[in-house]
Amino acid sequence: MLCAVVPKPDSSKSTRSLYLGLMSGTSLDGVDGVLVEFFVGGEFRVLAHRYHPFLPELQTDLLALCVSGPDELERAARVSISLSRDYAATVEHLLTCINIDPADIRALGCHGQTVRHRPEQGFSVQLVNGALLAELTGIDVVTDFRSRDLAAGGQGAPLVPAFHEAFFRDPVVPRIVLNLGGIANLTCLFPGEATRGYDTGPANILMDAWIQRHRGETYDADGRWAKQGQLKTDWLERLMRHSFFENLPPKSTGREDFNLEWLAEQCSDLSGAQAQDVQRTLLELTVWSVTQAIQSEVCGKSKVELYVCGGGARNTFLLQRLVDSLPRVSVATTEILGLPVQQVEAAAFAWLAWAQVNRKPGNLPQVTGARHPVLLGALYPA
Ligand SMILES: Nc1ncnc2c1ncn2[C@@H]1O[C@H](COP(=O)(O)OP(=O)(O)O)[C@@H](O)[C@H]1O
Ligand SMILES: [Mg+2]
Repeated sequence: MLCAVVPKPDSSKSTRSLYLGLMSGTSLDGVDGVLVEFFVGGEFRVLAHRYHPFLPELQTDLLALCVSGPDELERAARVSISLSRDYAATVEHLLTCINIDPADIRALGCHGQTVRHRPEQGFSVQLVNGALLAELTGIDVVTDFRSRDLAAGGQGAPLVPAFHEAFFRDPVVPRIVLNLGGIANLTCLFPGEATRGYDTGPANILMDAWIQRHRGETYDADGRWAKQGQLKTDWLERLMRHSFFENLPPKSTGREDFNLEWLAEQCSDLSGAQAQDVQRTLLELTVWSVTQAIQSEVCGKSKVELYVCGGGARNTFLLQRLVDSLPRVSVATTEILGLPVQQVEAAAFAWLAWAQVNRKPGNLPQVTGARHPVLLGALYPA
């Protein structure tokens, strides 16, 4: 476990409130937890961060639930309990880190683990046992953030752009925030324009699956294996034909669209190939899909700043390829805006819990496609 801590909360400010955010994304790598201090003026700071990797058995069970199979209800209920115990352990370690009592926490925003994302059918399923999490932590839990937006006709995703808008928008400088998790999503924060945001396609999901299959590693550290491979343009061209890339926003995606079965269908000649060439081509698919989305957004704008976050921001080769392919955009990570790359999404769910508690809509209808702004999340009182 990793734990990053900043000084104790400022108890002299009676206007502060403490929230927790827990995020475990499509990558199925583990859970990031943050303890956040919000002030009435809207500012916030992260007081502590903790990363809790999932055990391989839990990853296997979660991955199995990402596709239809026998006895799903029973398996989902059991996995939700294991998952919630992991979430609760993360909370306990976070609070111990900084010596804070659960009673001092206003609420805990927990995304849950997505195992199905079917916005076209009106649902998105995040596993978590909210009641158990409230029982184990003694903290009010807010979860199931996506359903209310879906009920209002939206995609239920992406939800982080509202948080990006609240904390990363600059009045003068056009900014884009790019989150490279399993899936990539971007948020455009342009002065004088409404915030835009959508998923651009895969970030790490295919690369993780490929290196897992061929080398038994969970991810390609720093993109070193991809760097040894050669881009195969004929494969890339076939992968670029995925209809998701042609869809106009609002749009969101997941494992249903981008997986190794889809890869094998597009490139039936992979078996005799050098595995590192496939890895390189998958990395270039991420670079291409992100780049073309960003280029279409920055068209005609100058001095655009791109801030990258999510685990993919730690893939130095991927980041270098993005810098190469976006010569007119200045590229950095969110760290220089004060939020380390692994904390952004967890902080977003702390903020979404804050929004729910304060009866503020958490969705941006122009991003998700919902008919109107809505309060997000279901509350499980402590
Ligand atoms: N040092 C690194 N080099 C390359 N990739 C990395 C590195 N660190 C993290 N990652 C990638 O980031 C992923 C996790 O990112 P994360 O933001 O947690 O995604 P998600 O929200 O989908 O869980 C890992 O699965 C891995 O692909
Ligand atoms: Mg993760």
